Amino acid sequence: MGSVDSQQRVLSGMRPTGQLHLGHYHGVLKNWIKLQHEFECFYFVADWHALTTQYEDPSRIEQSTWEMVIDWLAAGVNPGSSTLFIQSRIPEHAELHLLLSMIAPLGWLERVPSFKDHQEKLREQDLATYGFLGYPMLQSADILAYRAGRIPIGADQVAHVEFTRDLARRFNHLYGREPGFEEQAEIAIVKMGKKNARLYRSLKKRYQEDGDLEALDTARALLKEQQNISMGDLERLYGYIEGGGKIILPEPQPYLADQPRMPGLDGQKMSRTYGNVINLRDQPDTVSRKIKVMPTDPQRVRRTDPGEPEKCPVWGLHKVYSEAPTLDWVHTGCTTAGIGCLDCKGPLIEAINEELRPIQERAADYENNPDLVHSIIDEGCEEARDAARETLSEVRSAMGLNYR
Ligand code: TRP
Ligand code: SF4
Repeated sequence: MGSVDSQQRVLSGMRPTGQLHLGHYHGVLKNWIKLQHEFECFYFVADWHALTTQYEDPSRIEQSTWEMVIDWLAAGVNPGSSTLFIQSRIPEHAELHLLLSMIAPLGWLERVPSFKDHQEKLREQDLATYGFLGYPMLQSADILAYRAGRIPIGADQVAHVEFTRDLARRFNHLYGREPGFEEQAEIAIVKMGKKNARLYRSLKKRYQEDGDLEALDTARALLKEQQNISMGDLERLYGYIEGGGKIILPEPQPYLADQPRMPGLDGQKMSRTYGNVINLRDQPDTVSRKIKVMPTDPQRVRRTDPGEPEKCPVWGLHKVYSEAPTLDWVHTGCTTAGIGCLDCKGPLIEAINEELRPIQERAADYENNPDLVHSIIDEGCEEARDAARETLSEVRSAMGLNYR
C-alpha cells in the first residue's frame, strides 16, 4: 500500500496504428526516450482506444500492436528503464473507467473537442456509441490508474489531459473528504515534529492566504522528505495544504515536445490521414523518391526563378534536420536562384536516411526475435498491473467498496 510520487511518474500511450512515421518520432517518441532517463515511465499500446473507432474491423489491431512496439524499441525506448505494456491486459483500466464513469458529467464528455470533430470527420462511420463518447474517460483511467503526474503527448491530446485533471479533482473532492479530515490532518502535522510542523503551518498560510506558489512547492518538498509518517497521513497533508481533502488521484500535467509540429511532405502536419508521411521503416530509395516529388515554392517554375523558403514545405523539413550552415546555403541559394530544388533536397534526403538507418537496423533485429518482444511486453504488463492494482485498491477504499 502506499502513495506514489506522481511527479516522478510519466505515462503515455499510442493507439496501434501500425508502423510509425517521423511525426510520431519527433512529436512524441523522442520525448518518451528523453524522459525514461529521468523518471519512472509507463508506455502502453492503447488497443481498447483503437476499438472505439475500429470496432467493425478489429482484425488489424494485433499486427499493428506488434509493429508499433517494435518501432518504439527500435527508436530507442528502453525496456530496461521504461515499463512497456498493452492496455487490454490490465483489467484495472476497465474497472477504473467504470468507477470514474459514475462521476463524469455528460456535459464534460460532450464538450471535449475531439468528440465532435471526429464524429464530423468520420461521418461514414457510426460514432454515436457509448464507447466513443467515453474515449477521454478511458484515457483518464489509463493515466489515473498509475497516478502519473507527467503525460508526454502531442498537442492534439492536451484537451484529454485537461479532462483527466478535472475528473481527478472531482474524484478527490467527492471521496477525499473522509469524516474528520481536518482533525486527522492536524494530528498528522504534529507527527512531523515541532520544527517541521511549524514550517508546514507557515507555508500553508502563505499559500492559502497569499497564493504563494513557491510556498506550495516548498511544502511539497518538505512532505517528500518525511520518513516517519504514514502514507495515509502524507496524502492528507498534501491535500490539506491545498484546502481540499485527501488527494487520492493526483492531477496530471501535459508535457509537450520541443518540436510540437512535425511538417509532412506537403507542409501540413505529418499524419497518416493526410498521406504525407515518411515511415520509420521507409527504405532509403523510398525516402529519396518521396522527397524528390515534394512540392516546392510554386513561384519557382524554372530553375532560374528565385524562390522564398517560407513558402516551401522542403524548408520546413530543413528546419528540423539541418544545421545553420546548411540552412544559410538553402536560404541564399533559393532566394538568388543559386541552387535548384533538387540540389536543395539532397542534404535533406541524406539527413533523414542517416537518422533512420540505426532505427531500421534495430527494428530488423526485433523482427527476427519475436519471442524477445513478447517477453518484454509480458514483463511490462506484470509490472504495470502491480502498480494499477495498488491504485485501484485505494480507489475502492475511498469509494467504500472494500468490503468482503
Ligand atoms: N488518445 C491517445 C492518442 O490517440 C492515446 C492514449 C490513450 C493516451 N490513453 C492515453 C495518451 C493516456 C496519453 C495518456 O494518441
Ligand atoms: Fe524549396 Fe529549396 Fe526549392 Fe527553395 S530551393 S523552393 S527551399 S526546395
